[in-house]
Amino acid sequence: MTQRLNGTVAIITGAARGTGEATVRRFVEEGARVLVADVLDEQGRAVAAELGDQAAYHHLDVTEPDDWADAVHAAIEQFGDPSVLVNNAAILDVGSIAAMDPAVLTSIVAVNQIGPYLGIQAVIDPMKRLGGGSIVNVASIDAIEGSNGVAAYTSSKWGLRGLSKAAAVELGRAGIRVNTVCPGGGSSEMTAPFVAEAMDRLKDRTERLPDRPISPFHRRGELADYANAIVWLASNESSYVSGTDLVVDGAFTAGKVEPGAPFS
Ligand SMILES: NC(=O)c1ccc[n+]([C@@H]2O[C@H](COP(=O)([O-])OP(=O)(O)OC[C@H]3O[C@@H](n4cnc5c(N)ncnc54)[C@H](O)[C@@H]3O)[C@@H](O)[C@H]2O)c1
Repeated sequence: MTQRLNGTVAIITGAARGTGEATVRRFVEEGARVLVADVLDEQGRAVAAELGDQAAYHHLDVTEPDDWADAVHAAIEQFGDPSVLVNNAAILDVGSIAAMDPAVLTSIVAVNQIGPYLGIQAVIDPMKRLGGGSIVNVASIDAIEGSNGVAAYTSSKWGLRGLSKAAAVELGRAGIRVNTVCPGGGSSEMTAPFVAEAMDRLKDRTERLPDRPISPFHRRGELADYANAIVWLASNESSYVSGTDLVVDGAFTAGKVEPGAPFS
């Protein structure tokens, strides 16, 4: 079977675990060579080591312009000019707008929005040398709608989605495509610190909270669901797709369930 990313050199951020790690594995299966980038050095090195010659780990704090320059240099030295960048690294914090320390908002925006901006800046030259490329920004369904408690994260993800659209227009003439994937879920390691607190809050609730199914599919998304969408946007199969939001949430945000109306 033809490998969909044969000959592709990719940089994937936040790749030491979760969705990023799953994406690295899918990219390698599809023939890509991947720079596994993260701040979790031990985990990132272990992922790359397991994958052999097609992967190499590089420490990259996405908020640091110098780290970006080093990472792109390392990718070029090891594998050649990158034609794919997956801006996947992100952080989450939960808190009300009223209570959140503005410093927390700033740190979330720095990683989730400014990090991808710096990444785009860093790959423009190598992608231009290749005559084009594909940049995939991993946002969230929190870039499609809003929820209580995550205003800071949501702002950063809407900002990232806006960045994708502006970059798609600006870089289109250079043959660089820029798209957003909006997963309906991801690694439980990102959300775990906040789940216990949420459960605690719920136990004192007396009012009835509206039911909202996870998805009409009645299953949660798996990391492979998100990774497969990223593979498609990275590959030439999506060569005329740019500036789009690919929502991967099993129709969770597609609309509301109308009680009493028929289901098939
Ligand atoms: N977990 C979810 O429920 C969920 C839902 C929707 C979207 N997402 C998005 O999916 C993407 C992947 O997240 P995940 O679910 O795998 O969570 P995760 O926490 O497992 O992965 C995030 C990765 O980013 C890395 N990272 C954090 N700060 C960094 C920095 N400054 N520089 C470089 N790397 C950094 C972390 O070390 C980690 O490996 C993120 O963009 C996230 O916002 C997650």
